[in-house]
Amino acid sequence: MHGESTSRKNHPSLCSDFFLFGFLIVFLLSFHHGCCKSDIHNGYRLTLAVPVEYSVGFIGRAFLMETNQMAPNFKAALSVEAVNGRYSCSLEVFLGDVKVWNSGHYSQFYVSEKCVLQLTERGDLLLKGPKNRVGWRTGTSRQGVERLQILKTGNLVLLDALNLIKWQSFNFPTDVILWGQSLNVATRLTSFPTNSTEFYTFEIQHDKIALYLHSGKWNYSYWEFKPSKNRNITYIFLGTKGLEIYNDKAKKIAQIFSSPLDPLRFLTLGNKTGNLGLYYYSDDEHNFKAAFQAINNTCDLPLACKPCGICTFSNSCSSIHLLTQKDKGNSGCGEGVPGEVLCGREKVEMLELHGVTSVLKIAPKRVNVSKDLCANLCIDDCECVAALYSSDVRECKIYGVVIGVKQIERGYGLSYMVKVPKGTQTSHGKSNLKKWVIILVGVVDGLIILLVFGGLTYYLVQKRRKKLLAIETDNNTT
Ligand SMILES: *[C@@H]1O[C@H](CO)[C@@H](O)[C@H](O)[C@H]1NC(C)=O
Ligand SMILES: *[C@@H]1O[C@H](CO)[C@@H](O)[C@H](O)[C@H]1NC(C)=O
Ligand SMILES: *[C@@H]1O[C@H](CO)[C@@H](O)[C@H](O)[C@H]1NC(C)=O
Ligand SMILES: *[C@@H]1O[C@H](CO)[C@@H](O)[C@H](O)[C@H]1NC(C)=O
Ligand SMILES: *[C@@H]1O[C@H](CO)[C@@H](O)[C@H](O)[C@H]1NC(C)=O
Ligand SMILES: *[C@@H]1O[C@H](CO)[C@@H](O)[C@H](O)[C@H]1NC(C)=O
Repeated sequence: MHGESTSRKNHPSLCSDFFLFGFLIVFLLSFHHGCCKSDIHNGYRLTLAVPVEYSVGFIGRAFLMETNQMAPNFKAALSVEAVNGRYSCSLEVFLGDVKVWNSGHYSQFYVSEKCVLQLTERGDLLLKGPKNRVGWRTGTSRQGVERLQILKTGNLVLLDALNLIKWQSFNFPTDVILWGQSLNVATRLTSFPTNSTEFYTFEIQHDKIALYLHSGKWNYSYWEFKPSKNRNITYIFLGTKGLEIYNDKAKKIAQIFSSPLDPLRFLTLGNKTGNLGLYYYSDDEHNFKAAFQAINNTCDLPLACKPCGICTFSNSCSSIHLLTQKDKGNSGCGEGVPGEVLCGREKVEMLELHGVTSVLKIAPKRVNVSKDLCANLCIDDCECVAALYSSDVRECKIYGVVIGVKQIERGYGLSYMVKVPKGTQTSHGKSNLKKWVIILVGVVDGLIILLVFGGLTYYLVQKRRKKLLAIETDNNTT
């Protein structure tokens, strides 16, 4: 990934490029079938050598087919990439420099020695490692497949003698929808899972299209778009001017329009930000530019800040620091030490932060409850680390992560509560000197660093803090 971001260049005239230690070394592999036609036939075989030693950022890539179009065109490549300490072997499709499909998106095929792509005589397309170990296949043996072709739409297809499609990459969407591609209800795009615990999805549901953050076994929606009048969605389609939404009679029921006049090329779910974007190609600047982004305010992105961070009005991150004398800096705003059970009224309590909310919506929320009950629901739930209570609608949301927290104007009747070890808060009136809390807000933002050294200082600061900070703890709610 490192090599890619620093040194990937477009070499339309060459069929392969290798990235080694971040430097670009270009090889020209000689192919039996010549360079980059738009199809290959049964019996085709291509082998890439895998380095003996692991080197971070290594990418070895051989382009085997490309479309005959103006730049940026589509290319199919066999790649060996350094991923998580091993080498992954995959078949990929590129539009210009952008990876738009990858056979290893959901499950990497790790190899040593060699990475082989083969279209067998029986018409099965497969990836193999040493000792003929198969890591991925289309499973199209004996279906009359005669060739693999990359279509002008970027769809990678296996065709029979009558040009009927027997397998196509469009049926296995990853994190991109190309122009002309559709996606059915109850399917999804998934961001490349850099770590298995947190990833994003773009879901097509009957009543809406929505973005979700998945964290552990929990999921949270952070953006959604609903057709009016509760119309039922059957599929979506990426058209020239926007993302079109259709019902079961193939009638367009809604559309997300993009702004520029240039035709859209693809939709992607950002693997770092989790934002959904529609992109066009700028001929002047020779790169892809966003024509629409689902989320246009940084603080509305779930991971705008690290866990336990607060995204402030100036779009910077402040951290929620809770220090107890017992374990300095380790209470991690309630997420605790792995393995430690964080629940029970003797062990934990809820610390309330004013002037903040969460951008994460959660489906199984509790309604018509009191604030105390909401706090107790979180205290008793060992997986809960934070809760958001809305006093207007008496609604309680329970979270398994302290993520997506952002600053808002006060006075919306929202209370964001973070689970902390019991005794973190000082009881009103008599301050507990042994266990105290420092809430640092605005370290980055307001250049305000607040240090509390004892009960006396604590009192003085209490008075000032109300004026200085928009976000503070409420000590009156124990
Ligand atoms: C995110 O996606 C881009 C383009 O698809 C890819 O080049 C990059 O490696 C991905 N980043 C991560 C962290 O997976
Ligand atoms: C993956 O985990 C690391 C910490 O282990 C975190 O910093 C990073 O944001 C996570 N990536 C995603 C895409 O969630
Ligand atoms: C979110 O989690 C719930 C409960 O585990 C599950 O029923 C639902 O299908 C999930 N939603 C998505 C979009 O994955
Ligand atoms: C939408 O259509 C599906 C399948 O036809 C059906 O199961 C579902 O109940 C419908 N949803 C709504 C909200 O009408
Ligand atoms: C940002 O998004 C909101 C709704 O998501 C929209 O109303 C607003 O016009 C957008 N602003 C810009 C500058 O695109
Ligand atoms: C909410 O709770 C109150 C009393 O606890 C009850 O009278 C009322 O009917 C409830 N409202 C709903 C919508 O459940």
